[in-house]
Order: sequence, then C-alpha cells, then structure tokens
Amino acid sequence: MTTVDLPLLPLGRGTDPNSERGVDCPGSLPAASDPDLVERARAAKETLGSKLFVLGHHYQRDEVIQFADVTGDSFKLAREAAARPEAEHIVFCGVHFMAESADILTAEHQQVILPDLAAGCSMADMARLEQVEDAWDALADAGIADQVVPVTYMNSSADIKAFCGRNGGAVCTSSNAQVALEWAYAQHGPETKVLFLPDQHLGRNTAVLQLGLALGDCVVWNPHLPNGGLTAQQLRDAKMILWKGHCSVHGRFSPDVVDELRETHPGINILVHPECRHEVVTRSDLVGSTEFIIKTIEAAEPGSSWAIGTELNLVQRLADAHPDKHIAFLDRTVCYCSTMNRIDLPHFVWALENLVAGNVVNQITVDPETAKWALVALQRMLDLPARTAAKD
Ligand code: 13P
Ligand code: SF4
Repeated sequence: MTTVDLPLLPLGRGTDPNSERGVDCPGSLPAASDPDLVERARAAKETLGSKLFVLGHHYQRDEVIQFADVTGDSFKLAREAAARPEAEHIVFCGVHFMAESADILTAEHQQVILPDLAAGCSMADMARLEQVEDAWDALADAGIADQVVPVTYMNSSADIKAFCGRNGGAVCTSSNAQVALEWAYAQHGPETKVLFLPDQHLGRNTAVLQLGLALGDCVVWNPHLPNGGLTAQQLRDAKMILWKGHCSVHGRFSPDVVDELRETHPGINILVHPECRHEVVTRSDLVGSTEFIIKTIEAAEPGSSWAIGTELNLVQRLADAHPDKHIAFLDRTVCYCSTMNRIDLPHFVWALENLVAGNVVNQITVDPETAKWALVALQRMLDLPARTAAKD
C-alpha cells in the first residue's frame, strides 16, 4: 500500500472504534475471534446458492464486502435489489434505510435481511415524519405549500420517502441529485421551491454548484426551533428550503485541511463526497458519489496524488487497490461510519447460517401503505434520465 507524506491519517489500518455489539441476536452470534468465520460464510453462501443475493455498500468492511455479489453506492444497490426477482433472500450489507428501500423495491416473495439491526444512519434519524409534517404545515401557513416539491435524499426513513411520494416529490441519491432537482424545479414553473430532506449539504452543494442558485436562495429549516427558525417571508423568498441534517462522518472534513494540503502538496487532487460541507466542496477539485469516487481513482494517472473525503473503509480499499497512486484520507483522525461498521463477519455469518437452518432473522419490512407511497417517490427517481453528479 502506498501512503503519501501528508499531514493526514496515514493509511494504515486504524483502530476500529466500533467493536462493541449492538442489538441482541437470537441464538448465538459467532465470536469475532472464531478462525473459521470466513469458511463458515463461504459454506453458507454456497449452500444457499441462487436463493441468496448479497448487496454491499462501498462503506462496508473488507471482511464483509468480499462476500457481496454486487457492490455499489446507494443508487446502484437500489436498482440491483429491484432487478433480482429470482433471489428469495436479499442480505443487505449496508444500513437500515437502504434495506427498507430494497424491501419496497422487491417482490412479495423476497425477504430483505439486515445482518445487524443497529446499523442505522444518524443523518436519516435527523428528519422524523412528525417534524416534516409540521414544516409542511408552516409552508401552507406561509401560502407556498402548493409551490413546494419535497425531495428526500435516499438516506431517510421509508415514511419520509412516502411523505414525498404523497406530496408530489421524489427521492434522490448523491448520484442523481442534480437531475432530481432539475425535475423538481420543473414541476410548478418558475415559482417552484424545493424542500430538501434531510442533508442540508447535499441539497446546498447541488443547488448552488450544479443548478446555479445563489447561496442566498437557500434557507435552513431547523426542526428544533419554532417555525424552523424562519419567518414566513424568508420561506416565501427562498427557492431552496434545506432541512438541518448532516452526515456526522462527512461533516468532519474541514476546509483548513484542504487549504493546508494545497500549500504543502501542490498538484494534489482533492476528491470529496457531496455530503461534505459547502466550504470543503468548493475548495475541492472533484465531487461525486462513492461510485464516482471509485471510477475517478480507477481512471487516474499512475503517480498522481489524491486526498479523498469520504468514509474510511472505502478510502483504505482504494489505497490498497491502487498502489501506483498516492492516496490519503482527508482528515487527521480515524473516521469510519460507526453504523456501517456494525455489519461485521460474525453478524453476516449469523444471518446466513440462520437462513440455511430455515430461520429468517432481522427481516426488514415496510408497512404496505408506507411502501406504496415510498415506491411512488423511488420510482420517480428511477425514471430520471441517467447522469452522474460531478463538479470539475
Ligand atoms: P452514496 O452511496 O450515495 O455515495 O452515499 C454515501 C452514503 O453516505 C451512504 O450512506
Ligand atoms: Fe449515514 Fe453518513 Fe454513515 Fe452514510 S456515512 S450511513 S449518511 S452516517
């Protein structure tokens, strides 16, 4: 593995801060020290054969991702889940909102399994349905609800997606936020406004850097303040109403580190995910989803230097896979997504061996009414023309 002489986290294997166990598993969870875990996973997967389909998000641990039939960003995984009607069991190595979307997009006879139910997402938890309904009421009181299209990032619970489906809106991911917003702004003519949930950074970065809105066109709705902390006039003047949510992993990357790197390493390329703060994204060379980040590094010149602002499992994997390129992590400290890391080999083996024994554990199901409307919003996203989000 190549490391760059950067004042950043060297790409050795950092300490995993997430080794504690989350939710109780019925039956016994294999010990992490069991030397046969890899063999057990392989054997269970082989026994289940084509009945099993394993999806792995790019932020998953190496020990788990090696067993994925398909790896991808949240958009690709949603499409893949929808395209496998023959698989009875879909084991989703990712987080809860992804497994919910997979359940919505798959057929009745398919079961979606999340190996550890504690694999949630702090960003998704930042927008609860009652809070969003209160915000919608405030938009109605300001006389603008008819002009507002709600767009939710994939990283949200199924009931928020259903809210968007019921109210003429759509889902987006970091791969298609630009086209989703272009679609949204075309819904009610020039007076259209968007309520973007729950990641203010993806919403702001896309609106300003890709759609050409001014920063002043955006306001932030804080669900913990009366009327979101905004006046009715501020809501009427805004074109983009951003929910005050963020990713705790991507929120750590700082503009100071980018500035320091530019000074100490002229020629370095800064590549970040659009969940990063606006002041980080505007200082970077390229921005895009995890899938975009991977493709960019694959296409990069040997010998080129990169500092990458996204989850550490992925950055480490890219550094391992590209020893001819200098790849570093854009932060000084270890920064895994603690909930993505919940899916470890013991939980994976436990879920698969239970399936072999005929027990479906940790099945994720969305109630039919929520699923019906969430599917409307997801389908609007899947119907959008393909285009990859990237700033260059
Ligand atoms: P993408 O999978 O859309 O790149 O998003 C990253 C992420 O934060 C997933 O939780
Ligand atoms: Fe949620 Fe951020 Fe983790 Fe993605 S990286 S699952 S947005 S906390």
